[in-house]
Amino acid sequence: MSLGKELLLEKIFSKVDQIPTFPKAAQRALELLRDENVDYRKLEEVIKTDPGIAANFLKIVNSALYALPRKVESIAQAFLYLGVDQIKFILLSAVIGKYFDKEMIGYGVSARTIWLHSIACGIAGELLARKIGTSESFLERVYLACLLHDIGKIVLDLYTKIEVEHFKNTIKENPEWTFMQVEWLVVGVDHGLVGAELLKRWEFPEDVVFSVRAHHDDSLMVQRKLSAIVALANAIANLMGFYSGIDSFYYSLHDDLLKLLGIKPDELEKLCEITLEKSLLIERELI
Ligand SMILES: [Fe+2]
Ligand SMILES: [Fe+2]
Repeated sequence: MSLGKELLLEKIFSKVDQIPTFPKAAQRALELLRDENVDYRKLEEVIKTDPGIAANFLKIVNSALYALPRKVESIAQAFLYLGVDQIKFILLSAVIGKYFDKEMIGYGVSARTIWLHSIACGIAGELLARKIGTSESFLERVYLACLLHDIGKIVLDLYTKIEVEHFKNTIKENPEWTFMQVEWLVVGVDHGLVGAELLKRWEFPEDVVFSVRAHHDDSLMVQRKLSAIVALANAIANLMGFYSGIDSFYYSLHDDLLKLLGIKPDELEKLCEITLEKSLLIERELI
Protein backbone atom coordinates (compact mmCIF):
# COMPACT_ATOMS: atom_id res chain seq x y z
CA MET A 1 0.00 0.00 0.00
CA SER A 2 1.39 3.43 -0.90
CA LEU A 3 2.12 5.97 1.81
CA GLY A 4 -0.60 8.25 0.46
CA LYS A 5 -3.23 5.51 0.78
CA GLU A 6 -2.00 4.57 4.24
CA LEU A 7 -2.35 8.17 5.40
CA LEU A 8 -5.82 8.43 3.91
CA LEU A 9 -6.90 5.22 5.66
CA GLU A 10 -5.50 6.49 8.92
CA LYS A 11 -7.41 9.74 8.47
CA ILE A 12 -10.67 7.94 7.74
CA PHE A 13 -10.22 5.50 10.62
CA SER A 14 -9.56 8.38 12.99
CA LYS A 15 -13.03 9.67 12.11
CA VAL A 16 -14.61 6.33 13.02
CA ASP A 17 -14.43 7.34 16.68
CA GLN A 18 -16.68 10.31 16.00
CA ILE A 19 -19.64 8.05 15.13
CA PRO A 20 -21.88 7.63 18.21
CA THR A 21 -21.03 4.34 19.83
CA PHE A 22 -23.41 1.34 19.69
CA PRO A 23 -26.17 2.33 22.13
CA LYS A 24 -25.77 0.99 25.68
CA ALA A 25 -29.53 0.40 25.83
CA ALA A 26 -29.35 -1.97 22.86
CA GLN A 27 -26.34 -3.76 24.28
CA ARG A 28 -28.08 -4.28 27.62
CA ALA A 29 -31.33 -5.33 25.92
CA LEU A 30 -29.46 -7.98 23.91
CA GLU A 31 -27.88 -9.29 27.11
CA LEU A 32 -31.32 -9.58 28.75
CA LEU A 33 -32.67 -11.36 25.68
CA ARG A 34 -29.89 -13.97 25.88
CA ASP A 35 -31.14 -15.01 29.32
CA GLU A 36 -33.32 -18.10 29.20
CA ASN A 37 -35.87 -16.43 31.50
CA VAL A 38 -36.10 -13.01 29.93
CA ASP A 39 -37.09 -10.28 32.40
CA TYR A 40 -39.54 -8.38 30.16
CA ARG A 41 -40.22 -5.64 32.68
CA LYS A 42 -36.52 -4.84 32.84
CA LEU A 43 -36.22 -5.15 29.07
CA GLU A 44 -38.89 -2.50 28.58
CA GLU A 45 -37.19 -0.21 31.08
CA VAL A 46 -33.86 -0.59 29.28
CA ILE A 47 -35.25 0.06 25.79
CA LYS A 48 -37.16 3.11 27.05
CA THR A 49 -33.93 4.73 28.24
CA ASP A 50 -33.19 5.43 24.56
CA PRO A 51 -36.22 7.31 23.16
CA GLY A 52 -34.99 7.02 19.55
CA ILE A 53 -34.78 3.25 19.74
CA ALA A 54 -38.07 3.01 21.64
CA ALA A 55 -39.91 5.09 19.01
CA ASN A 56 -38.44 3.08 16.12
CA PHE A 57 -39.25 -0.15 17.96
CA LEU A 58 -42.94 0.76 18.18
CA LYS A 59 -43.00 1.83 14.53
CA ILE A 60 -41.63 -1.50 13.34
CA VAL A 61 -43.65 -3.65 15.70
CA ASN A 62 -46.85 -1.98 14.49
CA SER A 63 -45.98 -2.63 10.85
CA ALA A 64 -48.06 -5.07 8.82
CA LEU A 65 -45.16 -7.55 8.97
CA TYR A 66 -46.03 -8.55 12.53
CA ALA A 67 -49.80 -8.41 11.95
CA LEU A 68 -50.58 -7.80 15.63
CA PRO A 69 -54.26 -8.04 16.52
CA ARG A 70 -54.25 -4.38 17.51
CA LYS A 71 -51.95 -1.39 17.48
CA VAL A 72 -49.68 -1.47 20.53
CA GLU A 73 -48.87 1.74 22.36
CA SER A 74 -46.17 0.42 24.67
CA ILE A 75 -43.17 -1.85 24.40
CA ALA A 76 -44.51 -4.03 27.22
CA GLN A 77 -47.67 -4.70 25.21
CA ALA A 78 -45.59 -5.63 22.17
CA PHE A 79 -43.77 -8.32 24.17
CA LEU A 80 -47.05 -10.17 24.67
CA TYR A 81 -47.11 -11.03 20.99
CA LEU A 82 -43.47 -11.53 20.09
CA GLY A 83 -40.84 -14.22 20.42
CA VAL A 84 -37.25 -13.56 21.51
CA ASP A 85 -35.87 -13.71 17.95
CA GLN A 86 -38.49 -11.25 16.73
CA ILE A 87 -37.68 -8.85 19.56
CA LYS A 88 -33.96 -9.02 18.74
CA PHE A 89 -34.66 -8.36 15.06
CA ILE A 90 -36.93 -5.40 15.79
CA LEU A 91 -34.51 -4.00 18.37
CA LEU A 92 -31.54 -4.06 15.96
CA SER A 93 -33.69 -2.69 13.13
CA ALA A 94 -34.66 0.16 15.48
CA VAL A 95 -31.00 0.81 16.33
CA ILE A 96 -29.86 0.96 12.71
CA GLY A 97 -32.69 3.43 12.00
CA LYS A 98 -30.98 5.78 14.46
CA TYR A 99 -27.74 5.71 12.49
CA PHE A 100 -29.38 6.06 9.10
CA ASP A 101 -31.18 9.26 9.92
CA LYS A 102 -30.03 11.50 7.06
CA GLU A 103 -29.69 11.35 3.34
CA MET A 104 -26.28 10.09 2.20
CA ILE A 105 -25.61 12.46 -0.63
CA GLY A 106 -22.40 10.87 -1.88
CA TYR A 107 -24.00 7.43 -2.20
CA GLY A 108 -27.21 8.93 -3.57
CA VAL A 109 -29.54 7.34 -1.03
CA SER A 110 -32.18 8.63 1.40
CA ALA A 111 -32.20 7.67 5.09
CA ARG A 112 -35.43 5.73 4.70
CA THR A 113 -34.17 3.82 1.65
CA ILE A 114 -30.97 2.59 3.27
CA TRP A 115 -32.83 1.74 6.48
CA LEU A 116 -35.24 -0.38 4.49
CA HIS A 117 -32.34 -1.92 2.53
CA SER A 118 -30.71 -2.98 5.81
CA ILE A 119 -33.96 -4.47 7.12
CA ALA A 120 -34.57 -6.31 3.82
CA CYS A 121 -31.03 -7.69 4.11
CA GLY A 122 -31.83 -8.80 7.68
CA ILE A 123 -35.03 -10.50 6.51
CA ALA A 124 -33.20 -12.34 3.70
CA GLY A 125 -30.36 -13.23 6.09
CA GLU A 126 -32.77 -14.79 8.57
CA LEU A 127 -34.46 -16.81 5.81
CA LEU A 128 -31.08 -18.09 4.61
CA ALA A 129 -29.94 -18.93 8.14
CA ARG A 130 -33.13 -20.84 8.89
CA LYS A 131 -32.85 -22.66 5.55
CA ILE A 132 -29.38 -23.99 6.32
CA GLY A 133 -30.22 -24.67 9.97
CA THR A 134 -29.21 -22.27 12.69
CA SER A 135 -28.67 -21.87 16.41
CA GLU A 136 -29.99 -18.94 18.42
CA SER A 137 -26.56 -17.39 18.84
CA PHE A 138 -25.74 -17.76 15.13
CA LEU A 139 -29.05 -16.13 14.25
CA GLU A 140 -28.23 -13.16 16.48
CA ARG A 141 -24.93 -12.72 14.63
CA VAL A 142 -26.80 -12.93 11.30
CA TYR A 143 -29.08 -10.09 12.50
CA LEU A 144 -26.13 -7.99 13.66
CA ALA A 145 -24.09 -8.48 10.50
CA CYS A 146 -26.98 -8.07 8.05
CA LEU A 147 -28.58 -5.07 9.71
CA LEU A 148 -25.26 -3.25 10.20
CA HIS A 149 -23.46 -4.33 7.01
CA ASP A 150 -23.55 -0.90 5.32
CA ILE A 151 -22.78 1.18 8.41
CA GLY A 152 -19.35 2.10 6.99
CA LYS A 153 -21.15 4.29 4.46
CA ILE A 154 -22.05 6.72 7.24
CA VAL A 155 -18.38 7.34 8.00
CA LEU A 156 -17.43 7.70 4.36
CA ASP A 157 -20.38 9.91 3.55
CA LEU A 158 -19.62 12.22 6.44
CA TYR A 159 -15.89 12.50 6.16
CA THR A 160 -14.82 12.04 2.58
CA LYS A 161 -15.78 13.90 -0.53
CA ILE A 162 -17.85 11.40 -2.42
CA GLU A 163 -19.77 12.37 -5.49
CA VAL A 164 -22.45 10.28 -7.10
CA GLU A 165 -21.34 11.46 -10.56
CA HIS A 166 -17.76 10.35 -9.95
CA PHE A 167 -19.05 6.87 -8.98
CA LYS A 168 -21.32 6.68 -12.01
CA ASN A 169 -18.59 7.71 -14.43
CA THR A 170 -16.06 5.32 -12.95
CA ILE A 171 -18.54 2.44 -13.18
CA LYS A 172 -19.32 3.36 -16.80
CA GLU A 173 -15.65 3.57 -17.73
CA ASN A 174 -14.77 0.28 -16.01
CA PRO A 175 -17.71 -2.06 -16.55
CA GLU A 176 -15.69 -5.12 -15.53
CA TRP A 177 -14.79 -3.74 -12.09
CA THR A 178 -16.55 -4.73 -8.88
CA PHE A 179 -18.15 -1.95 -6.81
CA MET A 180 -15.41 -2.44 -4.25
CA GLN A 181 -12.75 -1.63 -6.84
CA VAL A 182 -14.71 1.43 -7.94
CA GLU A 183 -15.00 2.59 -4.33
CA TRP A 184 -11.26 2.20 -3.75
CA LEU A 185 -10.57 4.37 -6.77
CA VAL A 186 -13.16 7.05 -5.94
CA VAL A 187 -12.86 7.15 -2.14
CA GLY A 188 -9.58 5.37 -1.42
CA VAL A 189 -11.20 2.70 0.74
CA ASP A 190 -14.40 0.62 0.72
CA HIS A 191 -17.34 0.89 3.11
CA GLY A 192 -17.04 -2.77 4.15
CA LEU A 193 -13.56 -2.17 5.54
CA VAL A 194 -14.60 1.04 7.31
CA GLY A 195 -17.74 -0.59 8.74
CA ALA A 196 -15.66 -3.50 10.03
CA GLU A 197 -13.25 -1.08 11.71
CA LEU A 198 -16.19 0.62 13.44
CA LEU A 199 -17.65 -2.71 14.63
CA LYS A 200 -14.23 -3.85 15.85
CA ARG A 201 -14.02 -0.76 18.05
CA TRP A 202 -17.49 -1.55 19.37
CA GLU A 203 -16.16 -5.01 20.29
CA PHE A 204 -18.58 -6.91 18.10
CA PRO A 205 -18.01 -10.67 17.58
CA GLU A 206 -15.11 -11.38 15.23
CA ASP A 207 -17.20 -13.20 12.61
CA VAL A 208 -19.65 -10.26 12.44
CA VAL A 209 -16.72 -7.89 11.86
CA PHE A 210 -15.29 -10.23 9.21
CA SER A 211 -18.63 -10.57 7.41
CA VAL A 212 -19.18 -6.82 7.21
CA ARG A 213 -15.62 -6.47 5.91
CA ALA A 214 -16.27 -9.16 3.31
CA HIS A 215 -19.70 -8.26 1.94
CA HIS A 216 -18.38 -6.78 -1.33
CA ASP A 217 -15.18 -8.80 -1.52
CA ASP A 218 -15.60 -11.84 -3.80
CA SER A 219 -12.67 -13.74 -2.35
CA LEU A 220 -13.48 -13.09 1.33
CA MET A 221 -17.27 -13.53 1.26
CA VAL A 222 -17.03 -17.24 0.44
CA GLN A 223 -14.69 -18.03 3.31
CA ARG A 224 -17.34 -18.43 6.02
CA LYS A 225 -21.02 -19.27 6.29
CA LEU A 226 -21.89 -15.99 8.02
CA SER A 227 -20.08 -13.86 5.43
CA ALA A 228 -21.74 -15.83 2.62
CA ILE A 229 -25.17 -15.24 4.19
CA VAL A 230 -24.56 -11.49 4.54
CA ALA A 231 -23.26 -11.13 0.97
CA LEU A 232 -26.12 -13.17 -0.48
CA ALA A 233 -28.75 -11.40 1.66
CA ASN A 234 -27.36 -8.04 0.55
CA ALA A 235 -27.59 -9.11 -3.09
CA ILE A 236 -31.18 -10.36 -2.58
CA ALA A 237 -32.21 -7.04 -1.00
CA ASN A 238 -30.79 -5.16 -3.97
CA LEU A 239 -32.23 -7.52 -6.55
CA MET A 240 -35.68 -7.11 -4.97
CA GLY A 241 -35.42 -3.35 -5.37
CA PHE A 242 -34.48 -2.37 -1.83
CA TYR A 243 -31.49 -0.26 -2.67
CA SER A 244 -28.55 0.97 -0.70
CA GLY A 245 -27.36 3.68 -3.06
CA ILE A 246 -25.30 3.85 -6.18
CA ASP A 247 -23.75 0.38 -5.65
CA SER A 248 -27.16 -1.26 -5.96
CA PHE A 249 -27.11 -0.92 -9.71
CA TYR A 250 -23.99 -2.97 -9.87
CA TYR A 251 -24.89 -6.42 -8.73
CA SER A 252 -23.83 -9.81 -9.91
CA LEU A 253 -24.53 -12.87 -7.86
CA HIS A 254 -21.48 -14.84 -6.85
CA ASP A 255 -22.28 -18.48 -7.81
CA ASP A 256 -20.09 -19.91 -5.07
CA LEU A 257 -22.32 -18.31 -2.41
CA LEU A 258 -25.21 -20.54 -3.41
CA LYS A 259 -22.96 -23.60 -3.53
CA LEU A 260 -21.44 -22.87 -0.16
CA LEU A 261 -24.84 -22.46 1.49
CA GLY A 262 -26.40 -25.37 -0.43
CA ILE A 263 -29.16 -23.19 -1.86
CA LYS A 264 -30.64 -24.26 -5.21
CA PRO A 265 -31.69 -21.66 -7.82
CA ASP A 266 -35.41 -22.41 -7.34
CA GLU A 267 -34.99 -22.06 -3.57
CA LEU A 268 -33.27 -18.73 -4.12
CA GLU A 269 -36.22 -17.56 -6.18
CA LYS A 270 -38.59 -18.45 -3.34
CA LEU A 271 -36.37 -16.69 -0.79
CA CYS A 272 -36.35 -13.58 -2.98
CA GLU A 273 -40.14 -13.64 -3.19
CA ILE A 274 -40.58 -13.93 0.58
CA THR A 275 -38.00 -11.18 1.21
CA LEU A 276 -39.90 -8.90 -1.16
CA GLU A 277 -43.27 -9.64 0.45
CA LYS A 278 -42.02 -9.19 4.01
CA SER A 279 -40.01 -6.04 3.27
CA LEU A 280 -42.99 -4.41 1.58
CA LEU A 281 -45.02 -5.03 4.74
CA ILE A 282 -42.55 -3.03 6.77
CA GLU A 283 -41.85 -0.29 4.22
CA ARG A 284 -44.85 1.91 4.96
CA GLU A 285 -43.93 2.41 8.63
CA LEU A 286 -40.43 3.74 8.02
CA ILE A 287 -40.27 7.48 7.69
FE1 LIG B 1 -22.53 -2.59 1.01
FE1 LIG C 1 -25.91 -3.25 1.31
